[in-house]
Amino acid sequence: MTKDDTTSESQSKSMNSLLFYVNGKEIIEHNAEPDWTLLWYLRNKLKLTGPKLGCGEGGCGACTVLISQSINRSSDEIEHRTVNACLAPLCSVDGCHIVTVEGLGSMNKSNIHPIQSRLVELFGSQCGFCTPGVVMSLYGTGTSKNNELSTIQDIEEALDGNLCRCTGYRPILDTAKTFASDIDKLPHEESLPFTSTTFDKCLSFAKQNSLPLSQVEFPEKLRHYIPQSLHIMGSSIDWYRPLSLSELLQLRHTYRGDASKLVFGNTRVEIERKFKQIKHTCLISLTHIEELQQLKRTADEFYLGAGSTFTRLKLKLIEWTNEKINDGGICQALLDQLRYFASTQIRNVASLGGNVITASSISDINPVLQAAGAELELHRADSTEARYISLRDFFLGNGRVSMADNEVLVAIHIPLPNPSSKWFLRSYKQARRRDDSKGIVSAGFQVQLEQLDSLDGQWQIISICLSFGGMSSTTIMAKNTQQQLVGLAWTRITINKAFKLILQELPLDEQTPGGQSEYRRTLVQSFLFKFYAYVCVELRLSTTDSSFLSIARPFHRSISHGQQTIPERPSSQKTVGTSLPHQSAYLQTTGKAIFIDDMPSLINTLHAALVLSTQPNAKIKNIDIGAASQVPGFVSFVSYSDVPGSNKIGVMELDEEVFVSSIAPCIGAIIGVVVCESEQEALVASKLVQIEYELLTPTILTIQDAIHNESYFGDEMCLRQGDVNKGFADAKHILEETLWIGGQEHFYLESNSYMVIPSNDDKELTLYLGTQNPSTTQDLIALVLGRDVSRITCHVKRIGGAFGGKESRSIPPCAAIAVAAVKTGRPVRLTLDRHTDISITGHRHPFKIEYKVGFTDEGLFCALDIRMWNNGGCSLDTSSAIMEWAMLQMGNCYRFPHIRIRGYACKTHLPSNTAFRGFGAPQAMLTCENVVEHVASYLKRDPLMIRHLNLFKEGELTHYGQALEHWNVPRILEELSRSSDFFQRQIHVNEFNRTNIYRKRGLCMIPAKYGIGFPVQFLNQAGALVLIYKDGSVLLSHGGVEIGQGLHIKMISIAAEVLGCNIDRIRISETSTDKVHNTTTTGGSASSDLNGMAVRHACEQLRERLDTLLVDKNVPISWEDLIKQAYFARIDLCAHGFYATPGMFDVDFSQNRATCNYFTQGAAVTEVELDTLTGDWHLLRVDILMDVGKSLNPSIDIGQIEGAYMQGVGLFTMEELIWGDHTEHKWIKPGELITCGPDTYKIPSFSDVPIDLRVSLLSDSSNPRAIYSSKGIGEPPILLATSAFFALKQACMAYRQDQGFQDYFTLHSPATVERLRMACADEFTRRVCSNEHQTYQPRGSY
Ligand SMILES: Cc1cc2nc3c(=O)[nH]c(=O)nc-3n(C[C@H](O)[C@H](O)[C@H](O)COP(=O)(O)OP(=O)(O)OC[C@H]3O[C@@H](n4cnc5c(N)ncnc54)[C@H](O)[C@@H]3O)c2cc1C
Ligand code: FES
Ligand code: FES
Repeated sequence: MTKDDTTSESQSKSMNSLLFYVNGKEIIEHNAEPDWTLLWYLRNKLKLTGPKLGCGEGGCGACTVLISQSINRSSDEIEHRTVNACLAPLCSVDGCHIVTVEGLGSMNKSNIHPIQSRLVELFGSQCGFCTPGVVMSLYGTGTSKNNELSTIQDIEEALDGNLCRCTGYRPILDTAKTFASDIDKLPHEESLPFTSTTFDKCLSFAKQNSLPLSQVEFPEKLRHYIPQSLHIMGSSIDWYRPLSLSELLQLRHTYRGDASKLVFGNTRVEIERKFKQIKHTCLISLTHIEELQQLKRTADEFYLGAGSTFTRLKLKLIEWTNEKINDGGICQALLDQLRYFASTQIRNVASLGGNVITASSISDINPVLQAAGAELELHRADSTEARYISLRDFFLGNGRVSMADNEVLVAIHIPLPNPSSKWFLRSYKQARRRDDSKGIVSAGFQVQLEQLDSLDGQWQIISICLSFGGMSSTTIMAKNTQQQLVGLAWTRITINKAFKLILQELPLDEQTPGGQSEYRRTLVQSFLFKFYAYVCVELRLSTTDSSFLSIARPFHRSISHGQQTIPERPSSQKTVGTSLPHQSAYLQTTGKAIFIDDMPSLINTLHAALVLSTQPNAKIKNIDIGAASQVPGFVSFVSYSDVPGSNKIGVMELDEEVFVSSIAPCIGAIIGVVVCESEQEALVASKLVQIEYELLTPTILTIQDAIHNESYFGDEMCLRQGDVNKGFADAKHILEETLWIGGQEHFYLESNSYMVIPSNDDKELTLYLGTQNPSTTQDLIALVLGRDVSRITCHVKRIGGAFGGKESRSIPPCAAIAVAAVKTGRPVRLTLDRHTDISITGHRHPFKIEYKVGFTDEGLFCALDIRMWNNGGCSLDTSSAIMEWAMLQMGNCYRFPHIRIRGYACKTHLPSNTAFRGFGAPQAMLTCENVVEHVASYLKRDPLMIRHLNLFKEGELTHYGQALEHWNVPRILEELSRSSDFFQRQIHVNEFNRTNIYRKRGLCMIPAKYGIGFPVQFLNQAGALVLIYKDGSVLLSHGGVEIGQGLHIKMISIAAEVLGCNIDRIRISETSTDKVHNTTTTGGSASSDLNGMAVRHACEQLRERLDTLLVDKNVPISWEDLIKQAYFARIDLCAHGFYATPGMFDVDFSQNRATCNYFTQGAAVTEVELDTLTGDWHLLRVDILMDVGKSLNPSIDIGQIEGAYMQGVGLFTMEELIWGDHTEHKWIKPGELITCGPDTYKIPSFSDVPIDLRVSLLSDSSNPRAIYSSKGIGEPPILLATSAFFALKQACMAYRQDQGFQDYFTLHSPATVERLRMACADEFTRRVCSNEHQTYQPRGSY
């Protein structure tokens, strides 16, 4: 049969349109394109705004929808699966019902789904960008249980595919647990006064949980839907969905090799299409072939259909495990690997066969299958016989497999071991994060043993398989080692020999892609050692070390829970101080909250794509737009010559170009903008622009490079108090250290998005964007366009997270498309994809710190001399201000009588680094606490004693001359030690460490103070505008931006308090520069203080005017009547409020002078448990006591505390930016950031939350310097995460001491699993790093 015959035959039999339902509505799509993703279709064709585009690579869960499908018509069985709509092809949903967040419930409270309302009530949504995805994952947990309530354990695991950067996860998990069937499993001691626990919340909702759960009905028509072969002919791609194996084989034979691509879950194929630009002309779907779906067990083997999704496989494995047959551990080894394998959404669609065929080096499943001796069954149309091949012979290297170009993998067979033999199988994996993170190294080990009299009853190795992922370009077995081990006894001596052989056999050098060669080689041994221990325990060998018990099995993570303690609201306040939900919370949970990318386009709108430099420090020799301009829909290429005003911009200095005019300073610098009629066309055209570069030298990338080349922004900054030389002369001891602290990506869930609308008649420009800094954006756009500021208006409705990342770095792309809009005279919009956003918009600054500390025998500080460098990138942005703030926050809560701090902002050829929550303070704080720990270690004292000894006292002066008033830290430490039972727990930790070798705990208490108020006077001002309409409704505008921190609801409650009306009469529509002008950036934790005062000022004026109407104050009058009266009495119902914080002045280092308005204070106790063999760890318990004065909104403040703490945990332990440089990461192109998406850059996720999280607000605290005696809270709690860092360091220290290393050791930040493992110096690290292993430091990007 010819290709044409097949095509025409299948066309004649098959359908060419799709039938599916979305939220109960039938859709028949005749014009589907096979390269449309479901997300694209939902958002662009159906205009649904609920499913969000967060990353487009299955890594964030913002696009989660539920897909339901009849899988057995006779039994009426419906399968419900949450999926990542960003990866699912539209063509794959034929016959399915898709439920998006909009389908669950709407703003109409009568039909809102309980998941949506409880998330609001329990404060589980902040910025709201992740929320629709979270709602759908929670909904999926219930539906996939076929209408039973989920167990708490189900819930703990179900959210592994969703990221939230704001909340810290606890409130989302609490919400989820209110739907659990087994809430009794939660700890439920009697609650403390004013305290609410997870159990309390669950109990209060339990009565409302009824069965069946409220569900969107599955369409009747789909119950009877009989799938047919499908052939969708797109404009450039065909989609086939055969229904039988023979049909599939025939198609694959016709379109063999590259002529077609088989797809199952599309989780790999879509990634290749997006990121590697691999195009296919024909896709053949495997989802409807029965033979591929089967999962069965016979007497001899497991048969795993290649088209089994990991979810179905997991359920089957659990079933088989429960049958308790002797399978040598096969099911358990697979289950262990699946526990932290991808995410629920990915496991719901991705197939076992897809994973095998991808032959990825980091496949977590292939090593287990290889070790288990799996065999593949392959079929092809030109052979009646199936071909069987051992998986051990299948991988040929780097994505290549031993498969003919017309073959299809049908099944994987795993032989069952002989039940009478001693046969063991285990799997291991260590990743950067537990949830949804590919393994750095994964392993599958199998051994068969026999007890021999000739070996004194010892066990002899009959066969062994040691298979690894992450150690080569594909899954690899240590074949030589295996051979050499056969016949040897199962003893420690043999395993020691195995370590040496494996290391010889699996060498990795520093050029190895992925880096971390020493860590990977250490992990290989750690896993094998764990396997050895496991087998010894199973064999009950008399020689088994008692410590083996703790490493033989994986760590059991208990159910997470929390409690919050909130002091009573002041009785004088009616509204302020109440826990009111976020203003847009209901909109957010129902998917109705509109972000920029959700806004409909105006007619005539153009789409932009940036053309970015691919080289750092390079002269642009030529730009060729020839090919780009041929793309249909191409309208214009915009570059520096099109800028009507200034091409130079900057927030502190005009030192960067909107468009590169000659020299591209970094990879990611904007060279031009391509504008086209559609987004797709713009993306295609932008990739066709050819740039010719001339590379310049020297290219400065790291802080070390900058120091070497003396490349700085400005001069050395110096802040000093006293005389450090004298201090050191008086000191009994002096210690010195160099510390490195890595940067951090903001990872706001909403990437930068812009819509710019020119009005050509009077040269106005209207911008819709998500910036924290509307006025500075307005100023700079005016400068670039050469227009008056009054002609530019910036509108910000809400932002899907910002954290400082949208203060200044959101401006350059905005300026570029503003130029494009003006040049073309048409509206232009642009949404940055996740990789571009991370790569070009800057990060938290990496720091290098050198310190020298002098102290007495008791540990009293005498002097501190510090030099700090930050990596500012290629333009100043706020780098010097961040350095300045770091210098001011240095010292934390401790008094250094003599101190000198010198700072340098380094200029490098990286994208400009920028503001991030804490603004330099976290780096200063980590340094300072490192000093404390260093001194304590040297003096062999408890670090807490050193902290107490040096703690500031009320009224003492900071190193910049500010007296500490309302100094609550001593009280906080005292109360927290008591409430956290610190000293008793310290004893338990020591006892635990004494009795456990390979698991260690650490417990650390750290206080923090954070200055609130900008150190530059002019920034401490704010405005507000209040309009009262005739019906009594109030429109409030202020200069702050809602970024998820709950600013708007706080402002509304202040207005309600002062005006004396109900809060639901007051609305904030947006932040707009034509309502409130000259605004200060929303940041510095000062926005509630500044804008709150301005709002109060405006409302007080209005209230005063209204009061003139109240002749008799005892006669009640409704708000509405009062306003009517006022209107008819011709009273002005509009007021402008203004506030300038008194007593603030500009920082002046030459005078050693700066002011903070006041200090937010707090402390945290963190307890961790570390697996010293791998570096994996858990937050066992965290107690936080925070002084927020009299909270404006306690639950919102607790959300900030928990969210900031978790973000700090990410900063100090997990999140690692890695870019190519000349020394540390030679496997990456110099200047290129490799960690630019959720696949490679890991922020904390659901399974990182503290198992027990207790947050309390300090009672009886007041603050005369801020609105209603409150305190700013956005940034300070991030500092408390240093307690996690030092608790981990203590755990490492405990291990090192057991290994005979008593001395202090250096741990750079972040304390990643790699750094923690390598700091646990032992025999394994010695084999890899020889004698330097005690001081070995993994590579970093600084
Ligand atoms: C966010 C994310 C997280 C992930 N996390 C992990 C992880 O933790 N550990 C891990 O190991 N992997 C992980 N992966 C990889 C994932 O497991 C694979 O992408 C998945 O298993 C591929 O299955 P699929 O059905 O989606 O394959 P597809 O994308 O549909 O296909 C993949 C390849 O296999 C071929 N193919 C598929 N089935 C057959 C068949 N039956 N016969 C012949 N060829 C076939 C296709 O032609 C294609 O070349 C992750 C992927 C993503 C996107
Ligand atoms: S957008 Fe789909 S997972 Fe992030
Ligand atoms: S609320 Fe989850 S990302 Fe903002």
